[in-house]
Amino acid sequence: MDGNGRWATARELPRILGHRAGAATVRQIVEGCCEIGISALTLYAFSWENWHRPSQEVRELMELLVEFLTGELDRLRANQIRLQAMGRLDHLPPEVREQLDRVMAATASHRRMILTLALSYGGRQELVDATRKIASLVQAGRLRPEQINEGLIAQHLYLPELPDPDLLIRTSGEQRLSNFLLWQISYCELYVTPTLWPDFTKQELLEAVRAYQHRERRFGNTSAALTNGQPRPTAE
Ligand code: FPP
Repeated sequence: MDGNGRWATARELPRILGHRAGAATVRQIVEGCCEIGISALTLYAFSWENWHRPSQEVRELMELLVEFLTGELDRLRANQIRLQAMGRLDHLPPEVREQLDRVMAATASHRRMILTLALSYGGRQELVDATRKIASLVQAGRLRPEQINEGLIAQHLYLPELPDPDLLIRTSGEQRLSNFLLWQISYCELYVTPTLWPDFTKQELLEAVRAYQHRERRFGNTSAALTNGQPRPTAE
């Protein structure tokens, strides 16, 4: 959800007002995803590297998150959306943890869409944490190194049940991955738009989905083989 800072700076506003405008966009886009039947939406709301931002911005972002979580429960209920979070959540302030736990518990039975907030999240950190869990199983004699395969690594990620994303939307024109879901996006389709996140609309969400629908996903195979109905490769 990139471009909040630039959106605010262009209006000579403090950066936090860009993040506030970004939170309003979150509401619109969550609603838009629900309306078109998206089953899982993951929002990169605060990266592991974002902890290095000036302490005032970090504090204001955490306050905004608490406000968002407090105010959003009714809407999540009304739309049957389940909220989850992924990342090094133990680094979040207690108030954020409390609100997250409360909203996650209250929405756990919802089935229409899974909304995941990546918070204090880094793709490399997720792989480090998964490796540590796997290494302790090997050390305890509960796993042999030759049993480690793609499926086992995937099972030790933060949210193993969450399907790999099909489409990644990057706003504000940045053409990089910024440590987001590095394992899960190996065959994800990318949609890069110059639009700053606060200006991103349901209309543009539809444009991104339409662009996705015209992609041919070959998963390393050839176009001809896929046309002949060969299945996509399975994890090893
Ligand atoms: C990146 O833009 C954005 C963030 C680090 C924070 C994103 C947070 C929100 C949209 C609001 C809170 C989240 C939820 C789920 C309600 P940037 O600040 O790096 O923008 P810039 O590149 O223009 O400076």
